[in-house]
Amino acid sequence: MRSMKGVILHGGRGTRLRPLTHTGPKQLIPIANKPMSQYALEDLREAGIRDIAIVLGDVTPEKVIEYYGDGSNFGVRVTYIRQGEPKGIAQAVGLAQDYVGDDLFVVYLGDNLLRDGIRNLVEDFRGSNAAGQIALCHVKNPEAFGVAELNREGRVVRLIEKPKAPPSDLALVGVYMFRSMIFDVIDRLRPSERGELEITEAVQGLMDMGYEVASHVVSGWWKDTGKPEDILEANQLVLSDIRPINRGRLEGDAIVTGKVSIDEGTVIGTGCTIRGPVIIGKNCKLGPETYVGPYSSVGDDVSIRGGEIENSIIVGDTVIECGKRIVNSLIGRNSRIVSADMNLPKGYKLILGENTFISI
Ligand code: TTP
Repeated sequence: MRSMKGVILHGGRGTRLRPLTHTGPKQLIPIANKPMSQYALEDLREAGIRDIAIVLGDVTPEKVIEYYGDGSNFGVRVTYIRQGEPKGIAQAVGLAQDYVGDDLFVVYLGDNLLRDGIRNLVEDFRGSNAAGQIALCHVKNPEAFGVAELNREGRVVRLIEKPKAPPSDLALVGVYMFRSMIFDVIDRLRPSERGELEITEAVQGLMDMGYEVASHVVSGWWKDTGKPEDILEANQLVLSDIRPINRGRLEGDAIVTGKVSIDEGTVIGTGCTIRGPVIIGKNCKLGPETYVGPYSSVGDDVSIRGGEIENSIIVGDTVIECGKRIVNSLIGRNSRIVSADMNLPKGYKLILGENTFISI
C-alpha cells in the first residue's frame, strides 16, 4: 500500500487561551489528563500512519520535543519542523514539503478532537484519486467556521471563511488530506487580510485548478478548542466515554460513584465524594471532606483539601485548600488556591499572571 504521512500542527498563538499559553502551546493543554495533540497523534497511528511530523510554533517548542521525543513511546516516528511565528496554517503545511515528498499525507490541527478518529477518512482518501480531501461536520452556528458550499451532486464547490449567510451547516474540520500538488498551490498563495496563508484558500486553489477535492462528513462529535469553554466542553465529551478504573486507595467512608478513573499513588480521604465522570491522575491527595463532581479532570500531584470542584480541569502540581466551590475552571500547573479566612485584613489576595480571568 502507498505510504502515507501525518503532519500535526503545533504552532499558533493561542491568544484566546492566555494565560495558559504563556508557558506552553495550547496543544499541550490536557483534556482528560492527556495533551490535546496526543489525541491527534493517536488518531493518525490508529489509521495506520507511523511517520509523523510535528510543526512547532514559537511558544516553548522544547516542551513539545520533551514530551513526544522521537515518538517511540507512542509507537510512531516523530520528526520536528519549525514554523516559529504563526504565518498561517497553509504556510505551516508548506514547510512539510521536503518531509512529505510524493507521499499522500494528513494534516491534523493539534487542537482538534474527533470522537471517531480518522480511519474511515484515511481509507476513503487512499481509495480515491482526489488531490485533496476535507472533513466536514454539521454545526449549529456555521457563521463561526469555515463552511463548505456543495453543488447538487454533493460535491464541494467553494469554501467560505466565517460566512454571514452560510450556504450550508457543514463546517470545515481541522483534518485535511492532500497529495503533493497542494505544495504548488501554497507556493502561489498570497497572505490574506490578517497576514496569513489560509488553508481554505489553498483547498480552493486546488479546486480552481480543476483538481478533485473529496469531502467526508464525520460521524461522532468534533471539537475545535480555541477558547476556555471549548476546552471544558472537549473535556466533558472525552470524559463521557472514560473507562472506570481505580488504581488508587479509598480511605474510611469515601464514596466513588459513576465513571471514575483514579491513577496509582492517589489517596481519596475519608468523607470524600467523587461523582463521575471524573479522572484523577497519579499521586494526588484528596480530602478529607472533599467533593469532586462530574466532568472534572485532576492531573498528577494535586492536593485538594475540602471544598467542591465541578466541570473543571486542574492541570497538575497544584494545591487547593480554600474550602470553596470551584466550577467551570481551568487551573494551570503549579497553582495554589488557599483560604484567606484566617488572615487579616480579610479579602481576596491575588497573585496573577498576565491575561488572567477570574469570576468571584
Ligand atoms: P487558530 O486557533 O486559528 O489560531 P491560534 O492557535 O493562533 O489561536 P488564537 O486565535 O487564540 O490566537 O489555529 C488553528 C490551529 O492551527 C492550531 O492548532 C494552531 C495551528 N496553527 C499553526 O500551527 N500555525 C499557524 O501559523 C497557525 C495560524 C495556526
